[in-house]
Amino acid sequence: MYKILISPILFLFDAERIHYFVTDLLHFAFKIPFVPQLMRSMYTFEHPDLVTEVAGLRFRNPVGLAAGFDKNAEMVDQLEALGFGFIEIGTVTPRPQPGNEKPRLFRLKKDKALINRMGFNNKGAAVAAAKLSKRKSGILVGGNIGKNKDTPNDQALSDYLICFRELFDVVDYFVVNVSSPNTPGLRDLQEKGPLTAILKELQQKNREKFNPKPIFLKIAPDLTTSQLDDIIDIVKETGIAGVIATNTTIARDNLRTSAEEIGQIGAGGLSGAPLTHRSTEVIRYICDKSNHAFPVIGVGGISSPADALEKKNAGAALIQLYTGFIYEGPGLAKNICKSLIRNR
Ligand code: FNR
Repeated sequence: MYKILISPILFLFDAERIHYFVTDLLHFAFKIPFVPQLMRSMYTFEHPDLVTEVAGLRFRNPVGLAAGFDKNAEMVDQLEALGFGFIEIGTVTPRPQPGNEKPRLFRLKKDKALINRMGFNNKGAAVAAAKLSKRKSGILVGGNIGKNKDTPNDQALSDYLICFRELFDVVDYFVVNVSSPNTPGLRDLQEKGPLTAILKELQQKNREKFNPKPIFLKIAPDLTTSQLDDIIDIVKETGIAGVIATNTTIARDNLRTSAEEIGQIGAGGLSGAPLTHRSTEVIRYICDKSNHAFPVIGVGGISSPADALEKKNAGAALIQLYTGFIYEGPGLAKNICKSLIRNR
């Protein structure tokens, strides 16, 4: 129904506008009696064998919604009813910021892909924290944190610490995002020196807490093998919980969309089907090379149960998706969960 009737209409309109339209609609629908229960009965699938323990947390199923969809933590309760096992909010930054100029989100329909250069548009960490403190559902929530665009890289640590402090009481795990291609210079923080400094300090603050939270590092798919080796060393050295692989790519290889159209769209991170293979490669490399020393959350181009299984077989402890949700619709998490049970 979604693919035949709904998405062809939604896809007639600007991608970012449709995002806000659909989220407003979900908010509205949830205020109607019995709609939340109806949605839950349509889109959630529960089975004891789906329950997955990772980093000391119990996920009701291993299929999460990736960061960027609910940047300000405004829809956690609604998204819970769509069958996800966990929701990652953000990326949030210490201060609110508008992000890049519009248009900044583009569909590549022939490739079942998106290109975005949103640039961390968000209302700031305090607003997200306030929203999360009011959530009703008990679904696990990750807080994906970043730095403001105008914070120089040598002061990035203080931005991560502010977000960590603001969100600590209202999230279940943290994600340090140094891999978005849309904040100038951000990905330089993936280099060994600055990254070790940021993660060490965050982990230090975390350990001072009575109940430390798992901290994950989200990495780009564009890292070289030797950079991935550095990442493995850094995770082990700092003792953070694990890695989320991967963010969007700056590569534009093997696309069906014409080079001219790609050129017109311009800069941004590519997500969806063209990313599937590379992100699986990164997951497999990290899991094998580290000897499965820490959990990897696999994300990148999952749009079917087969894609999800591929990520799990590459070593992913949990998976996340975003672009597949846009193309395949709200039944995707449930379909994947059912198929994981069939293929267990
Ligand atoms: C993203 N993604 C993202 N990641 C992140 O860590 N912080 C963010 O703010 C965002 N924002 C964002 C916006 C949009 C419009 C998209 C499409 C993606 C990346 C996302 O979480 C995921 O890592 C990639 O999109 C790859 O997964 P999919 O989309 O191929 O399933």
